[in-house]
Amino acid sequence: MNGKSEHKLKHIPQHLAIIMDGNGRWAKKRGYIRSMGHKNGVDALRNIATYSAEIGIKYLTVYAFSTENWNRPKSEVKALMTLLVSSLKKELETLTKNDIRLTAIGDISLLPAKCRRELLEVMELTKRNQRMTLSLALSYSSRVEMVHCMKKIGQILLDGQIKISDIDEALVENNLFTFGMPDPDLLIRTGGEKRVSNYLLWQIAYCELYFSDKLWPEFEKEDLFRALQDFNRRERRFGKTSEQLQEENTP
Ligand code: IPE
Ligand code: IPE
Ligand code: MG
Repeated sequence: MNGKSEHKLKHIPQHLAIIMDGNGRWAKKRGYIRSMGHKNGVDALRNIATYSAEIGIKYLTVYAFSTENWNRPKSEVKALMTLLVSSLKKELETLTKNDIRLTAIGDISLLPAKCRRELLEVMELTKRNQRMTLSLALSYSSRVEMVHCMKKIGQILLDGQIKISDIDEALVENNLFTFGMPDPDLLIRTGGEKRVSNYLLWQIAYCELYFSDKLWPEFEKEDLFRALQDFNRRERRFGKTSEQLQEENTP
């Protein structure tokens, strides 16, 4: 399936968010250790990110490692961090070739120094790429993000730069890790679970949700295409009535 010539989708989400779940189960099913699942998950991400850029998605934000994932067995956390460093090195070429800018959301300061260095380097080297922004949610949890935001706003208030009445949605948004990004239009979770865990809780108001039973390493561009077809059948009403939307759309 070629992204440019074959897709016939009327609406392409500007921002697609994905919870890449199911790596461990994918490995277990095949008798491999869990880290093999994560390794194959990187291949799936490369394919999905490339396809997303081809079809015109501007922002792709993927849940790669949650704050809660730090509580996994030490050996798995270590394998994931090692994989992160090697993948960042390896994927720079794909990012550059596809004009993709890499960024990260989350508490990056908790990452091992080597990971952080590699991440910041790839972010710097891709910062002028224009076609799509790929954000890795790393050491990310939405609740931590909100607490972080509240502390920042509290400080601005204490410094006397704003009054209580100046606190509005825009100020909150400007102090989240996702500052400057539009809200996701579509959130896909693979792996069969029907929950959002701790992902982009502020940002997913009115986002369309799509759950796939496919495990992340086996999620292919055809699966993304199906999710996008489903997205195209949704009516996004943002609180209005269907009739109001129809009126708005008639010239
Ligand atoms: C998602 O896959 C990747 C990370 C959380 C790092 P999992 O590792 O959660 O895989 P399952 O859910 O156990 O199959
Ligand atoms: C969500 O997956 C986080 C990532 C995909 C990185 P988890 O496997 O950690 O989520 P829960 O615990 O099943 O909700
Ligand atoms: Mg999981």
